[in-house]
Amino acid sequence: VDLPGRGYDILIERGLLSQCGALAAEVLRGKKIALVSDSNVAPLYAEKVIASLQAAGFSVGEIIVPAGEASKCPAQLARLWEEMMAMGLTRRDAVVALGGGVVGDLAGFAAATLLRGVDWIQIPTTLLAQVDSSVGGKVAVDLEAGKNLAGAFHQPRRVIIDPDCLATLTDRVFSDGMAEVIKYGCIFSADFFNLIARCGGREGVMQQIESVVETCCDFKRQVVEEDEQDTGRRMLLNFGHTFGHVYEKAYHYETYTHGEAVAAGMIKALQVGAALGITPAEEETKLRDVLAAYALPQQIAVDAGEYKNTLAHDKKNAGAEIHFVALSSLGGGIIHRMPLEELTALLEERR
Ligand SMILES: NC(=O)c1ccc[n+]([C@@H]2O[C@H](COP(=O)([O-])OP(=O)(O)OC[C@H]3O[C@@H](n4cnc5c(N)ncnc54)[C@H](O)[C@@H]3O)[C@@H](O)[C@H]2O)c1
Ligand SMILES: [Zn+2]
Repeated sequence: VDLPGRGYDILIERGLLSQCGALAAEVLRGKKIALVSDSNVAPLYAEKVIASLQAAGFSVGEIIVPAGEASKCPAQLARLWEEMMAMGLTRRDAVVALGGGVVGDLAGFAAATLLRGVDWIQIPTTLLAQVDSSVGGKVAVDLEAGKNLAGAFHQPRRVIIDPDCLATLTDRVFSDGMAEVIKYGCIFSADFFNLIARCGGREGVMQQIESVVETCCDFKRQVVEEDEQDTGRRMLLNFGHTFGHVYEKAYHYETYTHGEAVAAGMIKALQVGAALGITPAEEETKLRDVLAAYALPQQIAVDAGEYKNTLAHDKKNAGAEIHFVALSSLGGGIIHRMPLEELTALLEERR
């Protein structure tokens, strides 16, 4: 990832976990590491990671948070700060995040703020984290008022991706990440979309997982490089998310995972795109087939007024105009600016 003064590598290879110590030593200055993980991931992978870090000469302190989104909160952030200081972390030392997007966002925010910023390394262990959240340097915690409302941009010194970690994911968490993989195909590449369609399911994807993860990281890298502060092209990554947020919120972030909500949101975006004369109607069937292969939902029902209420309060909707991400075809994402009123009228009509 080529960013002025903050460039870094994303390394992707099966089995990389056991080499993480040497890979960390190449980019870190200090000898002390605070390893942050969660209660599911630590028992599976922390021992291997700690052994590798120690073999490379690091002294490692481990901090484990309870698994789950609830840990991405100010209380856990404060706990991380205190424990890191108690370990004697200095400005030259580093944080290593071993886990999914929750651990990455939380530990990354701690790293961004502790001592006004220390180095950090991401070792993402979910598919979503490997293809999405570990690239771009966005870190955050959730507030009572909403998700990701306190955060920062803090690029890691390195991202170390070992796709072998994905073997222990439940099918549901794996599919959750697949929604983002499919999203990249939808907005950036018909070839990649077709490849994912041909994989036909989890097993097929795992047979070429290194290249799948690399392709996704590369798409996100390009957008991040062009637009680190999330204003222009990066908005394409919101494909399916505008409506996905409506579903997540309507069901209080409980019934559906993020990826499941995004999956239904992508179908809705194709339908709205078709109604606007942007998306050819036949693309919907192709997307439905792929979503079905990963047991992702294609529709989520919401009450009247839900679209309107949520979209009007979304911080991404500048003024009365909305940047609706549509597809001119599968593989061709575009940003279509339209009045919010017009979009919500369309949505309520087809609810
Ligand atoms: N920073 C960004 O740019 C960005 C982008 C997208 C999402 N996010 C954030 O990411 C978070 C979601 O990330 P997630 O989906 O990875 O959730 P998560 O971190 O909660 O992981 C999902 C579940 O899988 C478990 N797990 C993780 N790795 C495992 C493994 N290898 N084997 C077995 N179980 C494992 C976790 O303990 C958890 O129970 C959200 O908070 C979201 O806001 C951030
Ligand atoms: Zn997403």
